[in-house]
Amino acid sequence: MSEFPGLHVVDHPAVADRLARLRDRDTTTPVFRALIEELGTFLAYEATRALPMHDVRITTPLIDTTVKRIATRPVVAPVLRAGLGLLPGFLSVIDDAVVAHLGFYRDPESLKPVPYYANVPSELADRHVFVLDPMLATGNSGVAAIETLIERGARSIVFVCVIAAPEGVRTIRAAFPQVPIVTAALDEGLNDHAYIVPGLGDAGDRMFGSVTSVPVSVRAQG
Ligand code: URA
Repeated sequence: MSEFPGLHVVDHPAVADRLARLRDRDTTTPVFRALIEELGTFLAYEATRALPMHDVRITTPLIDTTVKRIATRPVVAPVLRAGLGLLPGFLSVIDDAVVAHLGFYRDPESLKPVPYYANVPSELADRHVFVLDPMLATGNSGVAAIETLIERGARSIVFVCVIAAPEGVRTIRAAFPQVPIVTAALDEGLNDHAYIVPGLGDAGDRMFGSVTSVPVSVRAQG
């Protein structure tokens, strides 16, 4: 058994190749955003594999028949702000999902994540909830996101990320052993600034271009 039961690393050349390009520091903001979106699709495909189905009667142009449809309307909860990058890809797989938003800031003294925004459907008990956060680093904001959803009634939650650090996986597994984690990669660990190594840097900054002000036209192309 894996060191981390409940951790599913999506092992596919199309995923690995996109992740390799994401990691490259020369990949430009628009390309980075497109790659994250595509990874959102692949990760959603894996994360939603166990969604319940039900039989529906339809009429094709030829005959009446019974088909399978997804039986519930899932909830997808991106953690602001980097989780937004995975959202379009996720919605391209589960187009009927309800989108919740979760925001946290870090308390300067305790360094713990404090919720500042939670726009979540009121009835979560029978919903399948997917938390999106590209980088599972310390796991603190992941735990806070899952706590917020459980406080609001959620019972079925999957945590979806692009890169996980072992530290973050341990933190989430210890707090919520019932929550599966779906990721594109399990990296080596965290550095002294809680960045994932080898990682890809700050996912939010890279997808929203909030650090560099050099226009795309004069940046090296990825
Ligand atoms: N958040 C990021 O965006 N990158 C990391 O490496 C860790 C946390």
